[in-house]
Amino acid sequence: MRVISVVSGKGGVGKTTTVANLGCALAAFEGKRTIAVDANFTTPNLGYHLGVYSPHPTLPDVLAGKAPAGSAVHVHPGGLHVLPGSLPAPGVRLTPENLEGLLDQLQGYEYLLFDCPPGIEAGVEPLLRASDEILTVTNPDLPAVADAIVTLKCAERLGVPTRRIELNRARRERYALPRGEVERLCEAPVALVVPESREVPRSIALGRPAVLSSPHSPPALAFRRLAAEFTGSPFHPPLAGRLAWLLGVRRLRGAPLDPAGWQQKVEPLRRRVAETTRAARRDELERLLAALDTQFEKGFLPEKTYRELRRVNERKLRDLA
Ligand SMILES: Nc1ncnc2c1ncn2[C@@H]1O[C@H](COP(=O)(O)OP(=O)(O)O)[C@@H](O)[C@H]1O
Ligand SMILES: [Mg+2]
Repeated sequence: MRVISVVSGKGGVGKTTTVANLGCALAAFEGKRTIAVDANFTTPNLGYHLGVYSPHPTLPDVLAGKAPAGSAVHVHPGGLHVLPGSLPAPGVRLTPENLEGLLDQLQGYEYLLFDCPPGIEAGVEPLLRASDEILTVTNPDLPAVADAIVTLKCAERLGVPTRRIELNRARRERYALPRGEVERLCEAPVALVVPESREVPRSIALGRPAVLSSPHSPPALAFRRLAAEFTGSPFHPPLAGRLAWLLGVRRLRGAPLDPAGWQQKVEPLRRRVAETTRAARRDELERLLAALDTQFEKGFLPEKTYRELRRVNERKLRDLA
């Protein structure tokens, strides 16, 4: 199994877009058994790119030993397997040990793509150590490139054997850093240039990455080319498809977005936010009750006050159930 971590210094540069597209390209165009795993515990958004809106169980449940990895895997219509993430319960985090357990369970795949959190915070290090290679995503501006350099240096220090750079949202604007400049700053070649394109937000709305929703669009071709490079197969997209895309045929064929569909997609998100807020509040109240018990046992609280505080907060907790 080849483990590829998609990382960045800065957030919002296109990691999740890359994992979804590269994953679908490997599965659908290269026929490789591929799984994409959402290892981003602060903004776990991979599911939204792939039409998985309210997953359960998720990666944190697997890492906590509450569910086997297989039970959390979804199969995208393009053939890509997806292990979605979620905000973890308190205390659940990625460690070298539970990561090893996860990789053992996923041994049947040929490619595993990790959608990582941005930067080099604690959770990223075990992922980098477990990776055969990283794909560092950056944008053509100085803050994104400066942060990418930090990540590249970190990966080098941790001994990740192959370190590629992706320049995403490339545009022919005078203020956008050109590829050559990015390469000079990073002191390494850029392996993949993905142009800025409306196809990307459109494909997210569809829950179908651009390589599937618009396979001849420029961003899709860039991801398909990299997938072919990974597997060592030749890449010759048919000219007819390219021409059709350029002439706008895809606009006629493209599935229109159904506004009613939005409700369905947004509802699970609303529920998730409400549940997360409730869970955090429950936690807070449980901690408060435990603190009251300790205070009372140590004799810092008069019994009457203790009973009253407990009663009030127990009721709040019940109301949240
Ligand atoms: N090549 C691109 N062209 C246009 N928009 C893009 C492109 N790549 C990413 N985006 C947009 O940028 C936003 C952030 O992308 P995302 O993949 O979620 O970044 P990250 O995972 O690094 O936080 C998304 O809303 C997406 O639509
Ligand atoms: Mg992301």
